[in-house]
Amino acid sequence: MSQQFDVVVIGGGPGGYVAAIRAAQLGFSTACIDATKDAVGKQSLGGTCLNVGCIPSKALLQSSENYHNAVHGFADHGINVGTVKVDIAKMLARKQDIINKNTGGIAYLFKKNKVTSFLGYGSFKARNGDKWQIEVKDGDKVEVIEATHVIIATGSKVRQLPGVAIDNQLVLDNEGALAIPAVPKKLGVIGAGVIGLEMGSVWKRLGADVTVLEAMPTFLGAADEQVAKDAFKYLTKETGLAITNGVKIGEIKVGKKDVTVNWTDAAGAEQKSVFDKLIVSIGRVPNTDGLNADAVGLKINERGQVEVDDDCRTALPNVWAIGDVIRGPMLAHKASEEGVAVAERIAGQHPHVDYNVIPWVIYTSPEIAWVGKTEQQLKAEGIDYKKGQFLFSANGRALALGEAKGFVKMLADAKTDRILGVHIVGPFASELISEAVVAMEFNASSEDIARIVHAHPSLSEALHEAALGCDKRSLHS
Ligand code: FAD
Ligand code: NAI
Repeated sequence: MSQQFDVVVIGGGPGGYVAAIRAAQLGFSTACIDATKDAVGKQSLGGTCLNVGCIPSKALLQSSENYHNAVHGFADHGINVGTVKVDIAKMLARKQDIINKNTGGIAYLFKKNKVTSFLGYGSFKARNGDKWQIEVKDGDKVEVIEATHVIIATGSKVRQLPGVAIDNQLVLDNEGALAIPAVPKKLGVIGAGVIGLEMGSVWKRLGADVTVLEAMPTFLGAADEQVAKDAFKYLTKETGLAITNGVKIGEIKVGKKDVTVNWTDAAGAEQKSVFDKLIVSIGRVPNTDGLNADAVGLKINERGQVEVDDDCRTALPNVWAIGDVIRGPMLAHKASEEGVAVAERIAGQHPHVDYNVIPWVIYTSPEIAWVGKTEQQLKAEGIDYKKGQFLFSANGRALALGEAKGFVKMLADAKTDRILGVHIVGPFASELISEAVVAMEFNASSEDIARIVHAHPSLSEALHEAALGCDKRSLHS
């Protein structure tokens, strides 16, 4: 007889592994199937996020920032380091070590919580009474397990540019972009989204000449306009990325050692760029190929996503889906929260994921982070708002850090004073945004933040001042 489980999760990324742990905590017999292997063929849990996404990109961002500071920043502090050399092999090995620690940590958590882990591709085989039969395939090895509930958490993969294949030698997706063995002289990036800006920053800081070609006429259209404008200035003038918006990518020719990209600029002029490597980062598409969705009638929508309701339920009995494979932002923390919520719903609880209060962070220098509505959204929705803003150049801690670029902006309802959005470009924006998230989850007003004691000297004082600014009573500007 097949092995039986209450809950089987397909996919072991931040959506899937968290769902599996929570389901096991709630007393369900739980299995998680994941196909990712490391270089020696061992299972490497954690999905895109831990293996080829969030964590390795942040490792390289930190290493490259350290290098950049050693070359360009330390002298300001009176520290002369002489000639600084970069060892890419060591940098990549450090990144891999961090990945291994994280993925090994998930294997440990699975053991601790008694989650059974299967290595291989999971797909729907059939319905057997009130159970789902799931096939697990790893090469020639095939087994079938049965589950009452199935959670699909198969994540996403790179959106391909038509007419050019990713080979991860010359034309790279996120996986290749995180593993370039030597600093390329000329690096092309198609797409000035989150991956383009983060990976472009890494290789630019390490010495590459980086050109970013973006189709949209405006830079970072999803961000607050003022933040996007400031970020564009820093990323082009200080980081040194050559970003061109409004381009149309034409023919791409992959040579033996380089890649030629023909493109048209916003004015309609034909351009040609030759790169040593080209990163394609034009968004990601849901991973549903191997699920055998048609055989069981699992609905995939026109965007390639598994179709779900507000509670992550599919139309099939006891089949759920979470994370990048469904609607909503492709973010690890969103996937994890949905994983927890689904496990709790299976247990009959009534959890809630507040999609209006999901933080966004772009780990460039300076960092960009926001939560809630942008000014342009509030205007479009006709919501009357007030704003408070504070520059990091007037914050003592930022000056001491030597990171005094950017600002914090708080937007609050003009009548109720409830915080509607917080937008940051500046040092440790990724950490600062949490205070705004907590405040918004508790329906705080700008006055609430204004009346909270913030440690001095700290970057959080900029948020405090922005809150005071909503009532036109900033103390330090
Ligand atoms: P995934 O993490 O994609 O995991 C899905 C897993 O399922 C994978 O291991 C896959 O191999 C496996 N799988 C697929 N099909 C099957 C199958 N049929 N059977 C078995 N296994 C299967 N988000 C952030 O919030 N912060 C960041 O800083 C950030 N940085 C990123 C940097 C990069 C370069 C990239 C590419 C992404 C980044 N993201 C970041 C996005 C984040 O990685 C995803 O939103 C997140 O991983 C989605 O989680 P998931 O569990 O839905 O899917
Ligand atoms: P993205 O959606 O952030 O950016 C893609 C960019 O490519 C867009 O600006 C789009 O206009 C542009 N584009 C699309 N087609 C194009 C074309 N043909 N020519 C030129 N430009 C084109 O997607 P990205 O950067 O690939 O990342 C995928 C997802 O991964 C993100 O949406 C994000 O959810 C997640 N991610 C999150 C990170 C974080 O939270 N810090 C870091 C990296 C990725």
